[in-house]
Amino acid sequence: MGTEKASVNGNQKLHAFFQGAVVPMDEAKVSVMTHALHYGTAVFEGIRGNWNEEQGKMFIFRMREHYERLLRGCKILLLDIPYTADQLCDVTVDLVERNGHQSDIYIRPLVYKSAEVVANLKLQELASDFTLITVPFGNYLGTDILRCCTSSWRRVDDNMIPTQIKSAGIYVNSLLAKTEATLAGFDEAIILNQDGHVSEGSGENVFMVSGGKLHTPRIEDNVLPGITRETIMQLAQAEMGLEVVERSIDRSELYLADEVFLTGTAAHLTPVVELDCRPIANGEAGPVATELQKLYFDIVVGRNPKYLHWCTTVVPRMVPA
Ligand SMILES: Cc1ncc(COP(=O)(O)O)c(C=O)c1O
Repeated sequence: MGTEKASVNGNQKLHAFFQGAVVPMDEAKVSVMTHALHYGTAVFEGIRGNWNEEQGKMFIFRMREHYERLLRGCKILLLDIPYTADQLCDVTVDLVERNGHQSDIYIRPLVYKSAEVVANLKLQELASDFTLITVPFGNYLGTDILRCCTSSWRRVDDNMIPTQIKSAGIYVNSLLAKTEATLAGFDEAIILNQDGHVSEGSGENVFMVSGGKLHTPRIEDNVLPGITRETIMQLAQAEMGLEVVERSIDRSELYLADEVFLTGTAAHLTPVVELDCRPIANGEAGPVATELQKLYFDIVVGRNPKYLHWCTTVVPRMVPA
């Protein structure tokens, strides 16, 4: 979430949804005894709200799909909360309105083991709760083109920690990879799975253009089923007539690809121009990435009527601070 300040929005004080109510952000606090703090027993989402200046409206992108993934995570981790996906969407629209943002935002729902019990590893015995924050959010990767390295860390396998959900604990894996890459001067890490195939970035899915087709690792290679991934696959097929292939990809195939790019809610679609100090093709953003990026950016701010059903429109509510 970069260095964005989470406390104020213009002169409007930010609120959070916490323990069933909207409260000022500085009142949304948990105890040091909270189970999730000790064991990473939580699932979360990262959803973007994209500010459309001309229309004076916020467009929340594919919110329902994010909540459906969150609830799949709840099912696996026995996180029991009394909300349906539709109710979570309603709570989110209400908070985004209330916070009155007039710039791009990051929406962070978190379902966590709220029980104040430290030495208990039985998920079925631990109470859960839901909380939600919204904060201003800019360019997550801090660059428009990426120089990446292959991580020395391997992506966690699904039979170690489920990889198709965003559980908090699994992110130690991503953090180790991202930290290693950035300390070495790269922008992002490409992480291989246990058998050496390309899995994903620390917070992004990977795509490669080769032989006139778009290729991306299959979900079984321990890939998070990204909502941006699915969006880009649909757009590539429907708008560019590109064949999309989901398959295992070798590291060296990326070196020889015509284009490589990463996708994610935070990262949007960002071209990779160099991997392990080798330029990808001529070392510049390629035509497929550029066209998909343009399509995607128009859609997420509600400028493409054909895909408006992917956006939830919110008009900020001005509340005295
Ligand atoms: C590990 C990982 N892979 C991929 C993604 C991309 O998923 P999405 O497009 O749903 O944001 C994310 C971000 O949520 C992620 O954390």
